This record gives sequence, structure tokens and C-alpha cells, in this order.
Amino acid sequence: MADLFKGFLSDSESIFKNEIALDPEFSPKLIPFRESENQYIATCIKPLFQNRTGKNLIIHGSPGVGKTLACKNVIKELEETTDDILPVYANCWKKNSTYQIVLAICEALNYKFTHNKRTDELIAIVTQKLNRKSSVIILDEIDKIENLDILYHLAENLYRKTIILITNDSNWTYKLDPRLKSRLVPDRLEFRPYTLEETREILKQRIHHAFNSETLTSSEEIAKKTFELKDIRIGLFLLREAAEIAESFSTKKISEEHVNKAIEKLSNFQKPVALDDDEKAILDLIKSNPEKTTAGIYNIYKEKFGLKSERTFQRKIKSLEKSNIVKLTRIEDIHGRSYRIKQLTEF
Ligand SMILES: Nc1ncnc2c1ncn2[C@@H]1O[C@H](COP(=O)(O)OP(=O)(O)OP(=O)(O)O)[C@@H](O)[C@H]1O
Ligand SMILES: [Mg+2]
Repeated sequence: MADLFKGFLSDSESIFKNEIALDPEFSPKLIPFRESENQYIATCIKPLFQNRTGKNLIIHGSPGVGKTLACKNVIKELEETTDDILPVYANCWKKNSTYQIVLAICEALNYKFTHNKRTDELIAIVTQKLNRKSSVIILDEIDKIENLDILYHLAENLYRKTIILITNDSNWTYKLDPRLKSRLVPDRLEFRPYTLEETREILKQRIHHAFNSETLTSSEEIAKKTFELKDIRIGLFLLREAAEIAESFSTKKISEEHVNKAIEKLSNFQKPVALDDDEKAILDLIKSNPEKTTAGIYNIYKEKFGLKSERTFQRKIKSLEKSNIVKLTRIEDIHGRSYRIKQLTEF
């Protein structure tokens, strides 16, 4: 027999106690540091318990700060508490057309006769079903939706509801058509990033689920990196990666070196292939002027390098965004259309 896989057979015991705990989709039982946000969401839903209509809500915050987790928890708690409020959750990134979202609502309502029915027929059916009771409709990643027809419809035709929209883009609301805004009149709730201490604590819980106590003795570097990049998913990625690196050295203990290797992998993973001179220069300006919008950066860039056209500048900055080095959020300021810039990766 060949030797290639021999070692794998004898080495059947995994470094993980429960690998699923490191999956970003895993829902931990406890959600620390989001008590007040959960409470706020509950307050918007409260009128539904009294047979009145609820408040609509836009939740915003950067990636990996627990928005989806909090909302899924709301659904779970609703299901455990009452049969009179119908909870519906759909992710508009995965299902971005009106038809797909209506199908997701049908599924949540356990309505199976969707075959051969047109979108408008299905909309009429779910509206009727939802209006028999109260409903909480959560549309996650709403900024990815193809068009807002379904939102108009739900806002206008459901009698007793709370519509919760989740987005990364804090300016998304400002782009909304006033007619829709005046139908929704949503409250806004921001999920701020976690502090270092909170990040440490959240990761500790996952480590406790995922590993035996002697597997990982210090997770401080992982917590620090996660805090720096402000996304709990990065921490989960690093934990899994460090464990796999340890395993590849046939050890059941994750050392500092394994953690450092995992962190290195993270920056390789995020860095783009190469930046050209213009992109480098623009990035330097962004670093030294973190408060400036794209319009402000363009002004300095023009002064410094003369001649360059605004179109070239826009193209370069979009390419930085594509490479995940910066995140651009649209705003209206004195310069007209402009973008707020957030640097995502060190470079
Ligand atoms: N307070 C918390 N306690 C425990 N785990 C948390 C907490 N906040 C976030 N997480 C975990 O971090 C990961 C990312 O959270 P989540 O998916 O809710 O982020 P998000 O804000 O919806 O991000 P995105 O905008 O990218 O969708 C998940 O695995 C989630 O379980
Ligand atoms: Mg999410």
C-alpha cells in the first residue's frame, strides 16, 4: 500500500473538539455586549404583542459586528414566545430578486404551492397570509437587493408589522426614495465595532467551544488582530487556520508560531497582487488624511501631482476598493457627490 495517506489513518484524533463553533454561521447561545441592541429591536416589535403595528428599523454597522446574529436571535426568541407573530428572514445578497425574496417568505410561512405561480400571484398570497397575524420581516444585506418593489409592497400592504433592514452602508437610507422613506419611517440602530476587551471575550467563548483547554493557551494576538480589523469573522478564520497549521505539524497544541503563520496568511489573503504608482500615492494620501473624503483627497492629489484627470483618480480609487484595501461610502457634501473612505487593510 502507498504511504501517502498512512499517517492520516493513525492520526484520527482531531485538534478540534467542535470545529463547527468556528463557523461564522454558527449561532452561539449567548450574545454578550449586544444586550442594549437586542432590547432596542424588541422595543420596535413590542406593539405587535398588543395588536398594533410595530416600528420599522434600519440596522447598520460594519461587517462582522453581529448584526445578522442579533436578528436571527430575535427570530428564534419570537418563535419560542408566540405563534401570533410570523417571523421572516431573507438575505438579499443570496436572494436578490423580488421573486427569490417572495419565495423565501413562502418558505418561512411554510407555503409550498409555489410552482408555476407568477411573482405577483405569490406576493398576493403571502400578503394575505401575513395579514392574518402580525409579522416581523427581516431583510438582511438590503443594499444588495435588485429593486425595491417588494419593500414598497410590504410597507404599504401589511397591517401589523415590523420591517427590519440590515446594511453595511450607513448612507443607504439617504439614497432611499422619499416615497418609500415616508412609508417606512424607520428608526436607525447602529452596531458599533467591539472594543478589544469585548473581542477577546467573544473569541474566548468560541475557543472554549472549539478546543480542549490545553490546545490554545494564548489567543491574545488573534484577539488584537481581530480588534484591529474590527470583524469577528477574522478571529474565527485565524483560529481555524492556526489550528490547521498546528495539525500539519502533527501537534495538538497551537503555538505562538502557528498563530503568527495564520496571521501572515491573512495579510497575503487580503493584499492585492500589486499597486501601481498612482494607487500607492493615493493610498499614502488616504493614510495621512484619514478624515478626508474622496473629494478632499482629490484636491490634495491634484495639488501635489498636477495634471491628473479626475476620471483617472476615480478609477484608481475604485480599484483600491475592489482590492478590499479601502471601503467607500457615498455621501453628499459641499463638493456634491463624494465618498467617505475607510482603510480596511494595512499596506
Ligand atoms: N456578541 C457576539 N457574541 C458572540 N459571537 C458574535 C458576537 N458578535 C458577532 N459574533 C460572531 O461573529 C460572526 C459575524 O457576525 P454576523 O454574521 O452577525 O456579522 P454581521 O454584522 O451580520 O456582518 P456582515 O455585515 O458582514 O453580514 C458570527 O460568527 C457571529 O456569531
Ligand atoms: Mg450579516
